[in-house]
Amino acid sequence: MTETPTERMQMLQRSLRAASLLGAAFFSTSFFACSREQPSQAASPSTLSPAPVQVAEPPPPTVAAEALAPVNLYGTCEPGEGGSGKTYMGREIAEVMGHFGVGWLERPEREREERTDLLVAAMKLKPTDAVADIGAGSGYFTMRLAPIVAEGVVYATDIQKEMLDIVMERALEDGAHNVMPILGEIDDSGLEPNSVDVVLFVDAYHEFSHPWEMMTSIVRALKPGGRVYLVEYRLEDPTVPIKERHKMSEEQARREMEAVGLRFVENADVLPQQHIMVFERR
Ligand SMILES: C[S@@+](CC[C@H](N)C(=O)[O-])C[C@H]1O[C@@H](n2cnc3c(N)ncnc32)[C@H](O)[C@@H]1O
Repeated sequence: MTETPTERMQMLQRSLRAASLLGAAFFSTSFFACSREQPSQAASPSTLSPAPVQVAEPPPPTVAAEALAPVNLYGTCEPGEGGSGKTYMGREIAEVMGHFGVGWLERPEREREERTDLLVAAMKLKPTDAVADIGAGSGYFTMRLAPIVAEGVVYATDIQKEMLDIVMERALEDGAHNVMPILGEIDDSGLEPNSVDVVLFVDAYHEFSHPWEMMTSIVRALKPGGRVYLVEYRLEDPTVPIKERHKMSEEQARREMEAVGLRFVENADVLPQQHIMVFERR
């Protein structure tokens, strides 16, 4: 028997609730006893502080990043909690959150905890903007941005097809005709050159296994003057209850964005737990 759209949505909501506990375990320092204070067997004090630098200097920002081959940009380290064991510019890249974490991304208390409403307002979008929600996950932000750019488009990109299936189901349900899914590669956003006004990353960039290649493709996709909103849990704040590898400091983020030629505009520090770091294509 074929389900109605309402029945499909109810099934989706049931599976989101079941998945929320798994998602909490992935990110939170408090969910498991095995937290930063009680590292796993593999962890050592050195793995719990920023990863040892074993990488070559990235290309200077004055040189067109895409003209340079990414040689020896990455290193390795003993994996810290939530880490991948791969380093970039002195930071250990985090593990990718699987689609089992969807329930956590969609938890009802998220808006109150993270003030996602303030984040959307801070983006100052125009109705005609083309926005890319990169690492869109289940589309939490895609679905909030779509009505704001009603005459524009939201590209929802992710490397997990399961995530994009959820986004498209929700877009269909809401009649959000301006949502376009893009299944990216780990080293390529899949966006067309010169096609977007605004890029949003929420809790995603720190997971990119090939940040230099991803950012190079994103800079290429930005129109001149286009903006990047990089939203990450504040590493500087030990009270933010998120695993260290899933946080970023402003200093580190600026270093990585400037390495691909983006200009730092501001840190709109209005959220309780996260930075909103704004960069611009020159
Ligand atoms: C923690 S989730 C955040 C989802 C969403 N931004 C949100 O805040 O609700 C991170 C997402 O980034 C995606 N991701 C990881 N590496 C990626 C890459 N190289 N390109 C695109 N998406 C990526 C993961 O598949 C995952 O869906």
